[in-house]
Amino acid sequence: MASPSQFQPIVVGFLCNWCCYGGADLAGVSRFQYPSHLRVIRQMCSGRVDLEYILRSFIKGADGVFVGGCHLGDCHYNPEGNYDALGNSMIAKRMLAHIGINPDRLRLEWVSAGEGNRFAETQTQIADVMKRLGPLGSSEGLSSDELQAGLQAAIDLVPYIKLVERERFRLPVRTEENYHKQYSGNAEFDALFREMVLDKLSMGQIVGHARARPMAAEQIAAGLRMPLPEVSRLLDVLAQRGVVTVEGEQVQVVAI
Ligand code: FES
Repeated sequence: MASPSQFQPIVVGFLCNWCCYGGADLAGVSRFQYPSHLRVIRQMCSGRVDLEYILRSFIKGADGVFVGGCHLGDCHYNPEGNYDALGNSMIAKRMLAHIGINPDRLRLEWVSAGEGNRFAETQTQIADVMKRLGPLGSSEGLSSDELQAGLQAAIDLVPYIKLVERERFRLPVRTEENYHKQYSGNAEFDALFREMVLDKLSMGQIVGHARARPMAAEQIAAGLRMPLPEVSRLLDVLAQRGVVTVEGEQVQVVAI
């Protein structure tokens, strides 16, 4: 493993063509200095950055992901495209935290084409965060297999989350303040999010972990570092749905 001083993070940056990409360009022509961690993927709009792109970047080895869009209200295609990016980043952060990945590895920022200095400053801040966090996975105490399995369970859930987001998470009035209210400190929403997303993510992790061979609930809980009562509760749900059978102490996955 690289020592902290040798660690060279890789950050995948999804930059909106009309604002943040212009900001990056201006930072370049203005010769503003910033660290070289960024691998840029130009998107026409930050709202185009699918939740799956973010999770796939991590599974492919990025230590961080940056999404840069136009300031809220300035989106060029749909006045609300960057609100989609805001919602996606908040959902992604919760999912990352749930599978043991520090959510600070994902950064969303609004940068206009005239803000080369803001772009460079943001990248310098991201470099500092990456230095503090260290390499993805090992710094979180996750083995490579654990990291891949957690991210894959999250990716497998993305099509379902898109439906749920449209049906259940949509805000009647989309403002930055309302997003923050909904995603931080709203007990009712937290319960809904747990039921609709996080429980399903945990069930995906359990099925992925126990798929290869029958094992006891205690082994699953230890392997996934989940509390045993939580694993037992979710195994009951999976058994009711016919996904697992429990014979004696052994849990067997019978359907996926
Ligand atoms: Fe830039 Fe939509 S066009 S965020």
